[in-house]
Amino acid sequence: LTALGLWALLGYLLGSIPFGMVITKAMGLGNLRQIGSGNIGATNVLRTGNKGAAAATLLLDGGKGAAAVLLARAVAGEDAAQLAGLLAFLGHCFPVWLGFKGGKGVATFLGLMLALAWPVGIACCLTWLAAAFASRISSVGALVAALSAPVWMQLLGYGGAMALAVVLMAVVFWRHGANIARLRAGTEPKIGKKG
Ligand code: G3P
Repeated sequence: LTALGLWALLGYLLGSIPFGMVITKAMGLGNLRQIGSGNIGATNVLRTGNKGAAAATLLLDGGKGAAAVLLARAVAGEDAAQLAGLLAFLGHCFPVWLGFKGGKGVATFLGLMLALAWPVGIACCLTWLAAAFASRISSVGALVAALSAPVWMQLLGYGGAMALAVVLMAVVFWRHGANIARLRAGTEPKIGKKG
């Protein structure tokens, strides 16, 4: 393995830890796959009714993206940081431990963005908050925040990470296929409601 390959692998392994699954199991909150959307992320953990578990999932799924970027940057520089962040995101979406059937990558995307280019990360988090607050729907926050990432990259002077932002946006949209279908049908649940 080349040095960059090692950072890719480390990022993937970090990202592939399904914290939502681990936390809900450890706290006896049931099987996430049989709750709401069946997704492993914080939005679905919230549907168990346990806000602390959802907050912990959000922080840990975001933290693993940030950790991958910060570790790789500290040791190997900016290219390794981007690669490790991308692979952490892909690890969350396609974890080998769950037969590659993972999450939608939103928390991990926000976490890696905060670590990689903090002004862009903050702008994306605020965009998520604004869209989710306005619609009361988590997936709307996710889709609007993902769309905004390349725009913020450009506006805030981080064009060097543009390709990464575009890939993240595309994968977030792809992973939200079922949400987009429910949005079009008008059946996507509001935050905190059972889906
Ligand atoms: O972060 C995932 C969110 O955008 C949608 O989650 O469970 O409603 O599909 P969920």
